[in-house]
Amino acid sequence: MKKVITYGTFDLFHQGHYNILKRARELGDYLVVGVTSESYDIERGKLNVQDSLLKRIENVRKTGFADEIIVEEYQGQKLNDITKYNIDLLVVGSDWRGKFDYLKNYCEVVYLERTKNISSTKLRSEGMIYRVGIVTDDAEDNEMVLESKYVSGLHVESVYSEDVFVAREFCDRYELDSYGTDYEQFLEGLDIIYIRSGLKNRADYIRKALERDKYVISDTPMALEPEEIRELFALAKAHQVVLVEKLTMVYLRAFTQLVWLTHGALVGDVVAVKCAISQDDFEGGKNFSETVSQALCACIKLLGKDYLEVKTNAVKSSDGCFIYDIITMKYLRALATIEIGTTVDVENELSIIGTRGRITVPGDWWNTGYFEAKIEGQEFLKRYSFNFEGNGLRYLLQELVIMIRDRRTECTRFFYEESETLAELLKIINQRG
Ligand code: CTP
Repeated sequence: MKKVITYGTFDLFHQGHYNILKRARELGDYLVVGVTSESYDIERGKLNVQDSLLKRIENVRKTGFADEIIVEEYQGQKLNDITKYNIDLLVVGSDWRGKFDYLKNYCEVVYLERTKNISSTKLRSEGMIYRVGIVTDDAEDNEMVLESKYVSGLHVESVYSEDVFVAREFCDRYELDSYGTDYEQFLEGLDIIYIRSGLKNRADYIRKALERDKYVISDTPMALEPEEIRELFALAKAHQVVLVEKLTMVYLRAFTQLVWLTHGALVGDVVAVKCAISQDDFEGGKNFSETVSQALCACIKLLGKDYLEVKTNAVKSSDGCFIYDIITMKYLRALATIEIGTTVDVENELSIIGTRGRITVPGDWWNTGYFEAKIEGQEFLKRYSFNFEGNGLRYLLQELVIMIRDRRTECTRFFYEESETLAELLKIINQRG
């Protein structure tokens, strides 16, 4: 019996999928079809898949060509499957030509011509497109234009700046459709507004966009007064849109898994969370509030909103600038320590100390795919590793598209109440003398 295997995402099932399954089945006596899992697609940067895994499997099943359907969950699985299912022939579309030649030592590999003029990507692009506008006072993009290209259903269309030269330069450089200096006019026709202008006018721009029923992504912090942030969230709710803070960390799988395992007592009860950031390393040097917000976000996610007390200590240089800060937040049964080096070099690291061990995220922990745990009584480190592409922004954007499509009114990755706590803490910290 000749056993054939083929793989695919099979999103928005179309004629091309049907044809390749039919032809693959005709090339043998038994066909195994591998359908990619959601997490595998996310890991390899394929963020635009619309159908659930169950639906995609069901669509493959309905063709009647598959004798067996399996789930493709990780890179390198094909090799294992070929041995495990005793495969004689691997069939893939011609878009993969040459890519699987290395498997020829294990089975026959055939690339079949793709069906012309149809693909899941094409079908997705015919769906709803949400138009994005950027509010900035800097002609340099901090990756919004680039990252949005990985998320289907988004198109960055125009840019607004008070300074016409900045707006025009940004527009030309990133090949957008239009630019403007009249905010009300700029908002017209857009669905999502990304606000990255300076703190002075940030809250004002957010407010006006929300009043016009726009979804808003804002650089963090959105404002320095917690009361102002509370009002913005209330406004978003009243207009049934979502206001998202640009804290990309909470959209990364490694980080969500880390939080989940910590809450599940992987290292026992948490006694301390320590986050260290060298501000110069932080995405090319952000201001203090933006840097400290990342650390606060991690502490809030790991230890919760109910801190009891915050203390700050700082070292100033001879010319009066803050160069090193230690912030301590006391919780009922734990301490969070944030260490920030502004011109001095602090080693980036996040560590969680528990009663039964310790979790460490080495390096740039706010943008990580890796962490490790040393658990009491276990000889070896437990290592957790997740592939991801870009800097997390594309995952935030992907989630925003889903929020809009499903008409959700709150972001569940970082709840409004968590943002409000962050703003409260930031206010206290910024009062350091
Ligand atoms: N395929 C094909 N003809 C098409 C589209 C896909 O033969 N017009 C084949 C692919 O080569 C692959 C299988 O169908 O072997 C599953 O492809 P998949 O990546 O799921 O489909 P695409 O439509 O190519 O998806 P996307 O646009 O998301 O890449």
